Amino acid sequence: MKMFQFITIADHIDSIPSSNRYDNTSSTAKMHSFLLLSGLLGLASAAPTSSTPITRQWTPQEPGSIPRHSGSRGFRLRVNVTDPSLDLTPAVHNLFLSTAHIGPAQNRAVVSSSGPIFYQNGTYADIANYRAGILTDAGPPESPFPEALQYQQGSDETKGSELFISAGTPGAGTAISKLTYPYSTLEILEGAPIVSSFIVCGNTTIPYYGESKQFEVVNWLQGTRDATGTHLRVPEGCVAVNLVPECAHEFGELPEGAAYGRTFVNDVRCYESMAAIDWSKYAY
Ligand SMILES: *[C@@H]1O[C@H](CO)[C@@H](O)[C@H](O)[C@H]1NC(C)=O
Ligand SMILES: *[C@@H]1O[C@H](CO)[C@@H](O)[C@H](O)[C@H]1NC(C)=O
Ligand SMILES: *[C@@H]1O[C@H](CO)[C@@H](O)[C@H](O)[C@H]1NC(C)=O
Repeated sequence: MKMFQFITIADHIDSIPSSNRYDNTSSTAKMHSFLLLSGLLGLASAAPTSSTPITRQWTPQEPGSIPRHSGSRGFRLRVNVTDPSLDLTPAVHNLFLSTAHIGPAQNRAVVSSSGPIFYQNGTYADIANYRAGILTDAGPPESPFPEALQYQQGSDETKGSELFISAGTPGAGTAISKLTYPYSTLEILEGAPIVSSFIVCGNTTIPYYGESKQFEVVNWLQGTRDATGTHLRVPEGCVAVNLVPECAHEFGELPEGAAYGRTFVNDVRCYESMAAIDWSKYAY
């Protein structure tokens, strides 16, 4: 018999009006640049692109309500178990998003005690239209290539949808949350209205490695939303997590002659040490 935890997460929501998602006209791009700029200035509380009310209003003026953050181009993504009483055995809280090789330039997302440096790549219009990507440099340091966070829809009904870090097009809507949100976390903003959560599932086999080796894999789920919050049906053996950017200031330039560049890498809001944050001190 399958067992599920039903949990409710307090979150923010966002939506991409379907007419804008693949609209590439310059007027739309300009409008979104303006919205993004408004967001950067903390003026976007009206959230003009949202079609669903935001239940938790937050203004940047609230003193002490959010942990201190920094900005950096590079970051590692760190697992935050949002209800510590539900952590797996062994615990996954504070571990890092990492990769398990499953083929040439193909990796399954797993958690580990260390993780690669990620970065967000895209123009302002890409970011505003949820078309930026979360990338990492793979391959040998002298001839690197980019790999992107990608996801599969409904790949495993019982344990959510699988997440990958592989060469190719970034998954639509993979992004670090905007400045108008209280916390900085990784999000999948696809479809509208958008409600998704990452989960880590323990003791999971990956076909490439056969039955003998087990991993803690990272998947994602879509929840249902009502006036009381977002309800996730977290499968047994899995736990709901946020993937939180921890600044990696050592993120550097690419070697001469690399086939891609850093021109469109953005600063993201990140924390210097996620493990050092006492979340109980904050309002959200
Ligand atoms: C991290 O987890 C704590 C519970 O330990 C929770 O209160 C907090 O909201 C979470 N923060 C993020 C950004 O996920
Ligand atoms: C980064 O974003 C720019 C602008 O959209 C795009 O041209 C470029 O291909 C992206 N770089 C990578 C490595 O995907
Ligand atoms: C994984 O397997 C170990 C050993 O059998 C067990 O102690 C642990 O509870 C399992 N964890 C999960 C999340 O299923």
